[in-house]
Amino acid sequence: QIVSDYCVQVRELGYRLQELISESLGLEKDYIKKVLGEQGQHMAVNYYPPCPEPELTYGLPGHTDPNALTILLQDLQVAGLQVLKDGKWLAVNPQPNAFVINIGDQLQALSNGTYKSVWHRAIVNTDKPRMSVASFLCPYDHALISPAKPLTQHGCGAVYRDFTYAEYYSKFWGRNLDQEHCLELFKN
Ligand code: OGA
Ligand code: NI
Repeated sequence: QIVSDYCVQVRELGYRLQELISESLGLEKDYIKKVLGEQGQHMAVNYYPPCPEPELTYGLPGHTDPNALTILLQDLQVAGLQVLKDGKWLAVNPQPNAFVINIGDQLQALSNGTYKSVWHRAIVNTDKPRMSVASFLCPYDHALISPAKPLTQHGCGAVYRDFTYAEYYSKFWGRNLDQEHCLELFKN
C-alpha cells in the first residue's frame, strides 16, 4: 500500500514537472505529456553494499538516464551520488525532505538541448551500505521524439533527428553504460 501510494504520487509530481518544463520552454503546458503519451514508470531500489576499497569500483558507472524524467530519493545517512559539471565530479549530498530530479535524454532531445541530461554516477562507501529509490518516467514505445518545432526556428535548427523511444532504448542498451552520451548518435 505504501509503495503503490508512493508510485502514484511520484507520477503526479513527474507530470507537474513536465508541465512546468513545457511552460518554461514557451510551449503549451501539456506539450511534453502529449508527446510522451501513456508513460511507463519503473522503480529501481538500488542497494550499494559497503566496499573495503571503494576507489577500485563504482556503485553505478557514469551514465545519463535514457528515459524522460527521473525522481530519485536518496539515503539521508550515506552520500554517493555525483554529477559531472565542467569536467569535475560533484557530490549531490542528500537533503531532508527533498528529491533529486534528473532530466533524462528524452527531455534533452525534446527541448532541442535546452535542458541537459546530466552525466551522473554513484560511488560506494567503505563501511556503510547505501540505498536509493529511483522512479523513471518513460515515453511509450512508439512516442516520436523530435525537437519541439518552436525551439528549432532560430539558431542551429533541430539538433537531433526524429526517433522513436523504442529505437533509442535499444541503441542505449546496445552500448556500454559509460560510453559517450547516447544522444550524440542521434545528432543531425
Ligand atoms: C539510476 C541512478 C543514482 C543513485 O538508478 O539511474 O542514477 O544515487 N541512481 O542511486
Ligand atoms: Ni541514473
